[in-house]
Amino acid sequence: VTGRTGAVVVGARGGLGAAFVEALLATGRYATVLALSRSAAREPVADPGEESADAPPRRIVAHLDLLDESSIRDAAALAGRLGEPRLVIVATGLLHDAATGLQPEKSLAMLDGDRLARLFALNATGPALVAKHFLPRMPRDGRVVFAAISARVGSVSDNRLGGWYGYRASKAALNMLLRTTAIEWARTARQSVCVGLHPGTVDTALSAPFQAGVPPGRLFTPARSAALLLEVIDRLEPSDSGRVFAWDGTEVPP
Ligand SMILES: NC(=O)c1ccc[n+]([C@@H]2O[C@H](COP(=O)([O-])OP(=O)(O)OC[C@H]3O[C@@H](n4cnc5c(N)ncnc54)[C@H](OP(=O)(O)O)[C@@H]3O)[C@@H](O)[C@H]2O)c1
Repeated sequence: VTGRTGAVVVGARGGLGAAFVEALLATGRYATVLALSRSAAREPVADPGEESADAPPRRIVAHLDLLDESSIRDAAALAGRLGEPRLVIVATGLLHDAATGLQPEKSLAMLDGDRLARLFALNATGPALVAKHFLPRMPRDGRVVFAAISARVGSVSDNRLGGWYGYRASKAALNMLLRTTAIEWARTARQSVCVGLHPGTVDTALSAPFQAGVPPGRLFTPARSAALLLEVIDRLEPSDSGRVFAWDGTEVPP
């Protein structure tokens, strides 16, 4: 770890994203933690701090909207200026949205083209555009990790219940985009790891309407899930790249 090593969290004001930012600052392993969210101001804001090698990690807050590629490009350039981004976590996602009446589909009859397109834009295209702009800014030598929060329901082979067409399909598409990215990235960055992660069922706004059937002890706080996923990330090898792993370190089948 050098004094210029950076971590990046996209979706830093979400339930899991905010927990990742706090956990990464607490590790002290990164000189900077770049916290990106669509509601942050366009002008980056940094914690006060010195540039010395033993200074505590600094949080830099900046803007990134997954639906605006130029904001992704600008955020990646900022990450490159801050130092060497060695870990990028994309913690954004969309399942439901009361304001626009977006709800997981229970049946084919509920399928709606515009809503499907919105789910794909947020859950699949957005994280892939983050990879497009951030990977070239990440070092080629040494360990580098790009992780996007996926979901077990994005597993095609594990789908026995049906329903949730758009969310499932957009997460499955995300997993394929991550795998394809992993193959390309390994050609230039031998120690690279590009994975999807399943966080368990986590007590956030995204899961709030769907927590009823969750067994006791299986509803994680965001802090618990983020801590478990950071442990999983630490144990991943380049040979794991392109796959999806759950909070307990087991692989989620494609
Ligand atoms: N919670 C669970 O039980 C669970 C289970 C499996 C998988 N996941 C996955 O975990 C990830 C994190 O979800 P969460 O539970 O932490 O939900 P959350 O609290 O709703 O966070 C979702 C985040 O996505 C951000 N976002 C939405 N549209 C965006 C855009 N256009 N540009 C940038 N950011 C945007 C939101 O930003 P704003 O704050 O600005 O709205 C929010 O920060 C998601 O990928 C989700 O699918 C969650």
